[in-house]
Amino acid sequence: MNEELSRIRARIMNCTACPLHVGRKNPVPGEGPADAPLLLVGEAPGREEDETGRPFVGMAGRLLTEMLKEAGVPRSSVYITSVIKCRPPGNRNPKKGEIEACRGYLLEQIAAVRPEVVVLMGNVALNSLKEVWKLPGGNIGEISGELYDRGDFKVLVTYHPAGVLRDRRRKRPLFVSHIRLAEEAVKKRGEGWLGLRLEEFEG
Ligand code: URA
Repeated sequence: MNEELSRIRARIMNCTACPLHVGRKNPVPGEGPADAPLLLVGEAPGREEDETGRPFVGMAGRLLTEMLKEAGVPRSSVYITSVIKCRPPGNRNPKKGEIEACRGYLLEQIAAVRPEVVVLMGNVALNSLKEVWKLPGGNIGEISGELYDRGDFKVLVTYHPAGVLRDRRRKRPLFVSHIRLAEEAVKKRGEGWLGLRLEEFEG
C-alpha cells in the first residue's frame, strides 16, 4: 500500500463524519494493489463486509470474483472499494448525506491509486459521481459498456454484482463483457508504455 492510501485508510478507520459510524463493526475502506490499473466502485458494505472489514466478501462478492476471472482479470489485480465505507442498517440504500460525507475518501483513493479505468458498479456508484465527472444521463442499461475518457483515467459504468445475482442470465454476460472492455483499454495503454521504454533503449 502506498503512503497516501495508508493515510486515507487510517482516516476512514476513525471516521465519525456521518451517523453510520455508530452502528458499524468495521469500516470497509477497500483493498487491492496501490497501483491497480482497474479500480472498481460498489455501493456499501453488507453484513459480511461489516464483520470482516473487507469489500465484496458476501454472495455478490463471490459472484464478482467469478465474473472477473471469466473476463481474464484476477481479483487480486484490481482495487475494490465502495461509495460508502460503513454498513447502513439492514442494508438500506445509502442516504444522500452519507454519500456526500464519504465522497472525498473515494476521490482521494482514486487519486492515490491512479487507475487507468474506474468501473462504477450500479446506480449508487453512478449517481454519486455522475455530476463530478459529467457522465451522460440515462440508466445503467443505456450508458454501460462505453468508455468515457476523463483525461487522467477512463470511466466505465456497469451493473452492481447484486443486480447481476437477481438477473444472471441477462446481466452476467454483459458485466463480463464490460470488464473485458476495461481490460482492453488498460492493455492498450500498456503497449504504449512499452513502446516508449523500447525507444529510450534504442536511443
Ligand atoms: N456490495 C457493495 O457494494 N460493496 C461491498 O463492499 C459489498 C457489497
